[in-house]
Amino acid sequence: MAKTIQAIRGMNDCLPTESGKWQQVEATIRQVVASYGYQEIRTPIVESTDLFKRSIGEVTDIVEKEMYTFEDRNGDSLTLRPEGTASAVRAGNEHGLIYNQQQRLWYMGPMFRHERPQKGRYRQFHQFGVETYGLESADIDAEVILLSARLWKLFGIEDAVSLQINSLGSNEARQAYKQTLIDYLSAHKSQLDEDSLRRLESNPLRVLDSKNPQVQEVVANAPSLLDHLDEESEAHFKKLCELLDAAGIRYEVNPKLVRGLDYYNRTVFEWVTDSLGAQGTVCAGGRYDGLVEQLGGKAAPAVGFALGLERLVLLLETLDKIEANDAAAEIYVTAMGDDTLAYASQVAETLRDQKPAWRVMLHCGGGNFKKQLKRADKAGAVVALLIGSDEMAAGQVSVKPLRNNGEQITVAATELPQVLTGMLAG
Ligand code: HAM
Repeated sequence: MAKTIQAIRGMNDCLPTESGKWQQVEATIRQVVASYGYQEIRTPIVESTDLFKRSIGEVTDIVEKEMYTFEDRNGDSLTLRPEGTASAVRAGNEHGLIYNQQQRLWYMGPMFRHERPQKGRYRQFHQFGVETYGLESADIDAEVILLSARLWKLFGIEDAVSLQINSLGSNEARQAYKQTLIDYLSAHKSQLDEDSLRRLESNPLRVLDSKNPQVQEVVANAPSLLDHLDEESEAHFKKLCELLDAAGIRYEVNPKLVRGLDYYNRTVFEWVTDSLGAQGTVCAGGRYDGLVEQLGGKAAPAVGFALGLERLVLLLETLDKIEANDAAAEIYVTAMGDDTLAYASQVAETLRDQKPAWRVMLHCGGGNFKKQLKRADKAGAVVALLIGSDEMAAGQVSVKPLRNNGEQITVAATELPQVLTGMLAG
């Protein structure tokens, strides 16, 4: 036999046993974004490498070591998108969606990062994200947080996730704070690890979210970013807290929350859980008022977030909040003998015309009665329609309940929708 080819490490297949769960999650998300008036945007999976370098930042984990970058046949440097924000801004600028306008957008799809795969962390993963443009005040920051909170409520996991928020202030205030932080960290260099020493030079704020306990000790006493906010950002953050309080959203202000992408200013937030082990951030985002202009558009305020769908599905599974629901069909149409095939197919097609939401599977490939019923069972069907030459001659169908002890009955084909409605409901 030929050697089999395996999927790429960290890139998962979503099998029929799983895809039903994903469809349920996606349907809930679509319903929620619609209920807030957000519109979908779909962008290509591949973009110019420069787009991500200029937005996420050259000195970030993503750009330094995680991007899938390659040259195409023209010698252009392309990258599989590691996130959706940069693409949304690129598309918004390109098509005039952002210029002097307000937008509330959402997207869902695969992202790619060459990270070390583990539970909740993959090389191809999926994000659902929202991005809003042209709205500056804290009401929209509160809205995107409320939108995410509504999802937790609908999924029944509101007690398993908690919200952390912080403000990074204006670019100017952050620059000034950076120097204060560098001075402080430089005085504690001997306690910093290699990574933090490197970041001290290139991206000192990232030292604040080091996972190394020894570095964390130093960071615990570092001057706080929240004490160095500019006046407007302070007022903006205060307003956001008030709005969240008024909406009954519980949160923790975490002055060490800085996020791993460079484009943020003012509000940043993360929804975290301790039910997933190391990869506990389910959803994260914030404000990025400088990015639209940085990518060539007219300056426009922006705020959004992205949610990791694998992590959400894992969390729902861990908490027993989702069922596989992998039955392929509820009605299984059997056909005894070659001469009944066309009639059986016609019965199935007519049912699909009459009841488009019903899942009707037609037996293909022949075989005896027992074999066909076995297939009906495997498909998860609730009823089997039995079609032989007698039924065909009389324009009838025999209906056999499969999941209870109900009697088999024979009815006119025209009565099927009515008869089956009762049986499927029962
Ligand atoms: P991020 O924090 O890089 O932000 O990713 C957002 C979420 O995507 C994470 O919290 C996590 O749930 C999921 N995620 C990230 N990497 C992986 C991975 N390797 N495997 C599985 N899940 C992963 C962003 O991407 C920003 N674009 C969010 C944003 C939108 N900010 C403003 N607008």
